[in-house]
Amino acid sequence: MANFETHEHDVLVIGAGGAGLRAAIEASAKGLSVGLVCKSLLGKAHTVMAEGGVAAALGNVDSADGWETHFRDTMMGGKMLNNWRMAQLHAQEAPERVRELERWGAVFDRTKNGKILQRAFGGHTYKRLCHVGDRTGLEMIRTLQDQGVHQGIKVYMECAITKLFKDGDKIAGAFGYWREDGRYVLFKAKAVVLATGGVGRSFPITSNSWEYTGDGQGLAYEVGADLIDMEFVQFHPTGMVWPPGVKGLLVTEAVRGEGGILRNNKGERFMWKYLPEDRRNEYAADEEEAKRWVDAAMRGEKTNDRRPPELSTRDNVARAIYTEVKEGRGSPHGGVFLDISYQDSERVKKKLPSMYHQFKELADVDITAGPMEVGPTMHYIMGGIRVDADTAGTRVPGLFAAGEVAGGMHGSNRLGGNSLSDLIVFGQRAGAGAAEYAKKLGAQPKINDSDVNSAVDELEAPFKRANGLNPYDVQTKMHEIMSKYVGIFREEGDLKQGISELDALQVDVDNVKATGTKLFNPGWHLCLNLKTMQIASLSIAKAALLRKESRGAHSRLDFPNTEASFGKFNYSTSLDGGKMSLKELPLSEMPEDLKKLFAKKEPAHA
Ligand code: FUM
Repeated sequence: MANFETHEHDVLVIGAGGAGLRAAIEASAKGLSVGLVCKSLLGKAHTVMAEGGVAAALGNVDSADGWETHFRDTMMGGKMLNNWRMAQLHAQEAPERVRELERWGAVFDRTKNGKILQRAFGGHTYKRLCHVGDRTGLEMIRTLQDQGVHQGIKVYMECAITKLFKDGDKIAGAFGYWREDGRYVLFKAKAVVLATGGVGRSFPITSNSWEYTGDGQGLAYEVGADLIDMEFVQFHPTGMVWPPGVKGLLVTEAVRGEGGILRNNKGERFMWKYLPEDRRNEYAADEEEAKRWVDAAMRGEKTNDRRPPELSTRDNVARAIYTEVKEGRGSPHGGVFLDISYQDSERVKKKLPSMYHQFKELADVDITAGPMEVGPTMHYIMGGIRVDADTAGTRVPGLFAAGEVAGGMHGSNRLGGNSLSDLIVFGQRAGAGAAEYAKKLGAQPKINDSDVNSAVDELEAPFKRANGLNPYDVQTKMHEIMSKYVGIFREEGDLKQGISELDALQVDVDNVKATGTKLFNPGWHLCLNLKTMQIASLSIAKAALLRKESRGAHSRLDFPNTEASFGKFNYSTSLDGGKMSLKELPLSEMPEDLKKLFAKKEPAHA
């Protein structure tokens, strides 16, 4: 048997972004032994890329706000495909989770009377995003990290998990390796919480950093959990397009929330053209009205003017930018112009300090003096592991999931700022659910030696393939397939071609080769990551082919309308008899008291 070290915990949390940290804090507060595994260094998580704010209906700026409107905005943003119970819990609990962060030391920006300041974001009826300049995710991670470490959570950094183990049908632990030197490590656990984030690295242009390779989605799928809504991939409208080394890096929606204007190379403010007909009256009629709204927002005053068209939902803005560029009205580096330079430069630097430095240092552009160039970047996946709304438990006893790795909460499109609130609401619930399960379970489940041996074999296989393929070449092929056939706009022929090329790519994914030793070896790490990236890519493409309509972030050129018949179920992907299979899972009926909220006349946003 290979050498490995062993650690034992009641609850093992895999992933140390906002959801993982919050889950670990909760389980540890219940008196359990908690291990927190992170693939990179603690504090480095995609959570920091939700820059503009955390959505919570505190009503500090717009006092009319409340959880009901937040719930309704979230469901309408997701085009009613969301798990309504998750959306309800999220809207109801986000305010308390934000106040808790403040008690734990998070330093939010303030209103004139000392309350947490809130800003506008696309699709939110009211100014709802509590923020720390444009570094909200970072502040959140810092706060949770301090809280977790002081609470005595054991943190395992630079550790990658490649296998989950079961004892019968129940989860029993996980196996992986230290990224630094390749030594193996076994974790025995009564309950496991997956909080590994998204799948952005399956796409060539993404705001996600190297860690986001669909690990949790793949691990869960392999042990029998379902993935739902995988066809819904969010392209954030504004990523950097230049210089090449930072293509895809996020340009926060807060730039538009603070009044940023989008223009094409003819100087046209094009977003008005792309507002859906039935929602046009919710946005400013012209530049004058949009300007009055921004001026009032900057003064912190209420106004009856309607918001600028740039604050439409992300799916809509991303499609608009894509179309402008495709039709030849793009900027020199293949994006469009985003301009906030008409505002007072000191205010811009105060409100958007990271953006100011990001553009100055990486692109030599002063955003207080001229426009940025921006274009869509793969930012988030709405789909993920199917969970119970109240406990975050999956179909596999003892396996829990929270944050981006879980599906259901956002339906077909997530509103900006709803990810940070999702992380803390469902991180807390997953930690509580896992702790309760672990307490009831009693003794540690057993892990078979044969399971450990096959996990080791899988880890070593890339070194044994003398004629294997270069993993970087295989990743490049995957990127080409995903961007060419499974991007912002989709259609049947492309999706079929994409699936057939991904099916063929499976042979390559199973035949990648690592050279050298296990000492920090990124080529070997990529060999292992390709497996979960392939599961994510295939499930996205297959679900996208089946959904013969356009809804939220899923835009079919051949089926441009939203069809009521497709609004009754989610597609679920699972491993059946060694094969990926997809089926329809009917949505559960929303209770009457929630249904009534959609009859109200307040503005809702497209
Ligand atoms: O644009 C942003 O700051 C991103 C926020 C989010 O993804 O929620």
